[in-house]
Amino acid sequence: PKDVGILAIEAIFPAQYVDQEQLEQFDNVSAGKYTKGFGQAKMGFCTDREDINSLCLTVTNNLLRRYKIDKSTIGRLEVGTETLLDKSKSVKTVLMQLFEDEGYTDLEGIDSKNACYGGTAALFNSINWVESSAWDGRNALVVAGDIAVYPRGSARPTGGAGAIAMLIGPNAPLVLDRGVRASHMQHSYDFYKPNPLSEYPTVDGQLSVRCYLSALDKCYQRYCAKAEKAFGIKQMSLDQLDAVLFHSPFCKLVRKSLARLVLNDFARLPLDTALSKYPPLSKFAGVKLEETYSDREVEKASIDSSEEVFQAKTAKSLRISNQVGNMYTPSLYGGLISHLISRSPSELAGTRIALFSFGSGLSSSMFSIKFSSDGSAGSPLHRLCSQLGFINPMLERRNRISPEDYTKVLADRERDHKLAPYTPTASIDALLPGTYYLTHVDEMFRRTYAVV
Ligand code: ACO
Repeated sequence: PKDVGILAIEAIFPAQYVDQEQLEQFDNVSAGKYTKGFGQAKMGFCTDREDINSLCLTVTNNLLRRYKIDKSTIGRLEVGTETLLDKSKSVKTVLMQLFEDEGYTDLEGIDSKNACYGGTAALFNSINWVESSAWDGRNALVVAGDIAVYPRGSARPTGGAGAIAMLIGPNAPLVLDRGVRASHMQHSYDFYKPNPLSEYPTVDGQLSVRCYLSALDKCYQRYCAKAEKAFGIKQMSLDQLDAVLFHSPFCKLVRKSLARLVLNDFARLPLDTALSKYPPLSKFAGVKLEETYSDREVEKASIDSSEEVFQAKTAKSLRISNQVGNMYTPSLYGGLISHLISRSPSELAGTRIALFSFGSGLSSSMFSIKFSSDGSAGSPLHRLCSQLGFINPMLERRNRISPEDYTKVLADRERDHKLAPYTPTASIDALLPGTYYLTHVDEMFRRTYAVV
C-alpha cells in the first residue's frame, strides 16, 4: 500500500479545568511560576465520572461517528495509555463494546504501555501492520488517552487529561515518512508508577527533564542521519522541516527543546554556516552537547538563537497543551491537532513536519509526516482539517473550577479510585453530548458506563 498514514484524527478533553494563575495563588508560589515558568494557562482534570475507559470510549465513538466510519472497514484497534485500571484487562477490550454488538470482533491489536510513549508505539504498530504481509485491506484505529495527576507539590500543575483517536490507512493526507524513524531507549528511574494503589507517579522531576532533553538530542541526530539518506539530501537541519512538534509535559520544556535542536544544528553544521546562522552561540563552537544539560549560558544562547524558528515552526502547536496540560500519551497528537488548526490546508499541503515522542523510563522516537500536495477544497487533506472545527469551541465551553474544588476532586479521587463497590457522585451536567461516563463499579470491580 502507498502513502500509509493518518486519515482522520479526533480528540476530547475534560469538561472542566483549573486556571493556572489561580492555582499559583492557591499554592502560594510566586506569581508567574506556572503561567510563565511552565507556560501553562489551564489544566483539564476529570471528576469521578470519567476514567481511562470512558475517555477512550468517547473519543473512539466520536471518531467513528464524525467520519461515518463503516465498522467493517476496521481491522485493527489498539490503545496507548499509562493510566492502568487493571493489570490484565486492556482498554482495547473495553472498546470492543463499540464493535462486538454488530458482529465485528476480528480486530488485531492490544494496549501499549510506557509512560507518555504508548500512543506512538500504537501508531507505529498500526503503520507497520498496514505496510505488512498481515494486512487485509482494512484500516486501523489508534487510541491514546490518559489522566495525568500528581500529588500536591511542584509536579501537580503539570497534570492534564484527554484522549485522541486516529484512523490509519493507505492513501492518507498525512503520510509517515519511511526509513527515517529514529529511537532512543534506555533504562532510567525518572518517572514511574511502582504503586498500583496510587494514580500518582514517583517522579524525579529534574532527572525527567534531563532524560527528555538528552533523548531528544539522540533522536534528532539519528533522524537527521536517516533523513539525509532517505531523502537524498546533503545536510539535514531544521531548514528542511516546516514544523517541529514535541511531546509537551509543559510548554516551557518544548520552548527549550526547540532551542536544543538549534544547538544541535549549530554543532552539526559546517562551522562557518553555524556561526553566521546563530551568532549568539558563537562562543560555544566545539561544545560537547552531553555536557550542556545544566549549562544556563548555553541554554540562554540557544533560546536567543531560536526565537524566530520557534515562532515559525513550533509555537502554534502548543495551543492544546497550554489549555489542557500534559495529557501524557495524547500530548504529541494534541500538538499535531493544534498544528492542523493553526494553518489552512493549502498552507499545510506539501510540507514536512517532525514529531518527537518521549515516555519516561524511557522510550523516545522522532519521526516525520509529509502532508499530501493537494490542499484544495474536497481533497482528503482539506476534509481532515475541516473536521477539526470543533476543537476551539470545545476548549472554550469548559467550566472553570476553583483551585479549592479542584483540590477536593483530586483528594476524592485519591481516596476512591480503587474502591469496589463504588458509585460516582459528580454531576454529569457539564459533559458534552456523546460523552461516556462511569455509572457504577460493582463488588467484582466490573465497571459500567452510560453515554450523555
Ligand atoms: N515567574 C516566571 N518564571 C518562574 C517563576 C515566576 N514567578 N517562578 C519560577 N519560574 C521558572 C523557573 O525559573 C523555572 O524556569 P527554568 O526552567 O527556565 O529554570 C521554571 O519556572 C520552573 O521552575 P522550577 O523551580 O524548575 O520548577 P520545579 O522544580 O518546582 O518543578 C518540574 C518543575 C520538576 C518539571 C515539576 O513540575 C515536575 O516534576 N513535573 C512532572 C515531571 C515532568 O513533567 N517531567 C517532564 C518530562 S516527563 C513527562 O512528560 C511526565
